[in-house]
Order: sequence, then C-alpha cells, then structure tokens
Amino acid sequence: MAWFKTWFDTPYYHILYNDRDFAEAENFITLLINYLNIPENSKLIDLACGKGRHSVFLNKMGFRVLGLDLSQQSIHHNKKFENEALKFKVHDMRDEIYAQVSDQKADAVLNLFTSFGYFEDEKDDRKVFQSITHVLKDGGYFVLDFLNAKWVENTLVEEDHTTKGGINFTIKKKIEDQHVIKDISFDDDGENYHFFEKVKLHTLDEINHYAEEFGFERIKIFGDYVLNDFNLESSPRCISIFRKKKQV
Ligand SMILES: C[S@@+](CC[C@H](N)C(=O)[O-])C[C@H]1O[C@@H](n2cnc3c(N)ncnc32)[C@H](O)[C@@H]1O
Repeated sequence: MAWFKTWFDTPYYHILYNDRDFAEAENFITLLINYLNIPENSKLIDLACGKGRHSVFLNKMGFRVLGLDLSQQSIHHNKKFENEALKFKVHDMRDEIYAQVSDQKADAVLNLFTSFGYFEDEKDDRKVFQSITHVLKDGGYFVLDFLNAKWVENTLVEEDHTTKGGINFTIKKKIEDQHVIKDISFDDDGENYHFFEKVKLHTLDEINHYAEEFGFERIKIFGDYVLNDFNLESSPRCISIFRKKKQV
C-alpha cells in the first residue's frame, strides 16, 4: 500500500508532529486571505486538510469550507468541528472533487503544508490539477503551499532524534532520484515501527507546467508563512498563487 495511505492515518504521525503550530497556521491564513481579498461567505476547499487546523480557522473567518482528506482518522476527528458552513469528507485528491460539492463551484482551493508530491506516476499529479480546475469558478484561486526543493537540498539534516509523547523517534533523511525521503523509526509498547515519507522535489518549472496545462496563471509566489517574496536559494517554502483563467 502507498506510504501516504498508512502513515498519515496512524496516531504516530500526529504524535511526531504534535507541535505543528496552530498560531503560525492562523497567522498565515489571515495574511493569505487578506492578500487574496476573497469576500466573506465564499466557498473554499481545503484539499488534504489533515486535522482541520486551516479549515476551522477559515470557517471562523466567515467562509463556507469543505475539508477533504484521505485519512479516515483525521476526518473522523474533524467531524466534531462541523457546522452548517463547515464540512469534512474522506476524499482522495486524485478523484474529481465536484462529486463532493453539492451546489456551486468553489472560489478557492487550498493545498497546504506539502500535501502534494506524493505520487509516483505523473498522471496522478495531473489528476490533482485537473480535479481542482474542474471544481473552481473562472477566476478562482488555487494556492499550492509546497516545499522549496532547493532549500530542502541546501538544509538537509541526515539524521535527527526527537522525543514526542514519550516515544523516541529516529529520523533519517536523504535525497534520491528527485525525492526527499524521510525514514522514521521508533519503539512503542515493545514493538518496533518503521515508516517513511517520500515527497517528489517538484521544481518551480514542473509545477508551472502542470498549472499551465490545466488553465491556471501564476500571479504570485511567496517564500514563507509571513508572505515574504520567494527566493530560490533561501526561501523555506514555495507558495504559489494560481488563478483559473476565464474560459473563452
Ligand atoms: C503534511 S499533511 C498536511 C495536512 C494539513 N494540510 C495541515 O497543514 O495540517 C498531508 C495530508 O495529506 C493527506 N493526503 C495524503 N494523500 C492524500 C490523497 N491522495 N488525497 C487526499 N489527501 C491526502 C494526508 O492524510 C495528510 O493529512
């Protein structure tokens, strides 16, 4: 089974990343929405929403939000946040999203915190872009918050150890065949566990290529969560703001 179907669904993934910063997520969303200038009550899709930290905050800001994720555990966890204008569903981002959308198309789709680059087959990457373009209104936004491949290469730490929730994690990282591979091992309750994450280091050009193929224009690239401009050598993030071109 593909690594991203199992690892993200385990409690250990959430234990390892339990310090994921909600405040940072909220500050980022505030700045992002301010930049996009999307009116209240717009319809937003948080594609690969995880445990809903961005979706919940967007809903508090007055948007109608649909959070989608492949992880049944995460969606189950998020159900308690639901209201009239906030829904969560299990969904594979390679499938058409409009099947999940009852009435009108979306004003923006957000794919945040490196929730792309998981697929071995380029056809799957294309399916993601295709489903997003189908579900968006003309002129709608697609925000792809991805890693900066160059920064990952420049700052890679080969081995690291961390203790979270009483578990000692060993994390080894390497770059192989245009992928960053994170090898995660630990013991819990007398059992030895071993998982990995494998993310394709898509370059800016590759992402641009997909975007153009599916009718998007890139209007901006930010380099971090406080929305500094992107710098290829030194930016930790590569946050692309795409806009769906109007059909002629
Ligand atoms: C790095 S996490 C980011 C989660 C969330 N956006 C956040 O910032 O907290 C990646 C998420 O992608 C989800 N995911 C992985 N493969 C997916 C797929 N094929 N379709 C939808 N979601 C997927 C995982 O379950 C996980 O929640």
